[in-house]
Amino acid sequence: MKIALLGLGTVGRGVVEVINENKDSIAKRAGQPIEVKYILDIRDFEDEEVGRLIVKDFNIILNDEEIEIVAEAMGGVEPAYTYAKASLSKGKSFVTSNKELVALYGAELLELAKNNEVNFLFEASVGGGIPIIRPLNQSLTADEIYEITGILNGTTNFILTKMKEEGRNFEDVLKEAQALGYAEKNPEADVEGYDACRKVAILSSLAFGEHVSYQDIPTEGITKITKEDMAYAEQIGCVIKLLATCQKQDGTIFARVAPVLISKSHPLAMVNDVFNGIFVKGNVIGEVMFYGRGAGKLPTASAVVADIVDAAKHKGTNIISLWNREKIELKDKDQVKVRYFVRLQKDEACIENVVKEIFGDTEEVQSPYNEYAFITNIETEEQFAEKVSRLAGFTIMNKIRIEK
Ligand code: HSE
Repeated sequence: MKIALLGLGTVGRGVVEVINENKDSIAKRAGQPIEVKYILDIRDFEDEEVGRLIVKDFNIILNDEEIEIVAEAMGGVEPAYTYAKASLSKGKSFVTSNKELVALYGAELLELAKNNEVNFLFEASVGGGIPIIRPLNQSLTADEIYEITGILNGTTNFILTKMKEEGRNFEDVLKEAQALGYAEKNPEADVEGYDACRKVAILSSLAFGEHVSYQDIPTEGITKITKEDMAYAEQIGCVIKLLATCQKQDGTIFARVAPVLISKSHPLAMVNDVFNGIFVKGNVIGEVMFYGRGAGKLPTASAVVADIVDAAKHKGTNIISLWNREKIELKDKDQVKVRYFVRLQKDEACIENVVKEIFGDTEEVQSPYNEYAFITNIETEEQFAEKVSRLAGFTIMNKIRIEK
């Protein structure tokens, strides 16, 4: 089977490498050999092996009837979206690692694939090499999924792990992550939570069957987390993780990306460095956890090539997906119930009484700093925000959601 690859960046090179390296086993699994016939890239490459496959015009791929699968590893919404639509409309399966594309147009492209009896597959868009899309689509189909909570961004998990283990501040570790090539030069998408937000939008759309718009998901990053927060976390037996979650509660769905204090005994607390972990809860299976490398050349390429194999195996048959274009109205974020860990600068002697007056009985946390720290009772985000507004005049050092 002849395929075309769009983009010869890190992931694209990984795809070529995996297809060459595991040629025989891939051919057995796909039922026929897989051969890369074209690579679309605007650059020229000296390496003869790939250089001879380079084309600059997408129409060469589109109009070649021999090409049955197009694999995209360019990233960004355009021109990936245009190429995906054109390929599927022409009866070619489309495989992608592009979370922006999938989060925005997943439902539409799945529908287009169905109408053309081909497949739109995107295992690599969430969790890199970790199988999570296929399990949700094909393995956990007996279950009603009611929660997915995950560490979906490797860069921020690396930063939080280093901050915890080495008592260092965010900016300092971010520089190291950039030097190691984990974080982008512009790290906003990772550290502000936008990357995890798109990934959880994809997972929730698949789990709940209707489109969850990533723009509707309240998203906070890790830029405000400090080494002092890490010290408090240690003291109360917790770790801080950037959690992306979607949950079905009383018939409504809520989703969020935010740093959260979780108990050290929580399975996701043990997911460290650049690893990702995804915790799924279903009404039949109970709890399942997926763990592995969520980014990087070969892990991501492994998922892309697995999708290529799946597309080859299902030639002429569309693999049904639950995700349709109907948009889900997410639960009002102000009505979500939470507990917060709060740190106040102790510049007023009466601070304890003020906190008691506003928040009622709270759990005090001993502070090694000149601060008063406490954990609130469970209340809605709205109730908490209203109480915080009454703290005007006090310096709030930080407030972090806690699930313990
Ligand atoms: N920037 C992403 C991460 C890459 O750090 O997890 C994989 O999507």
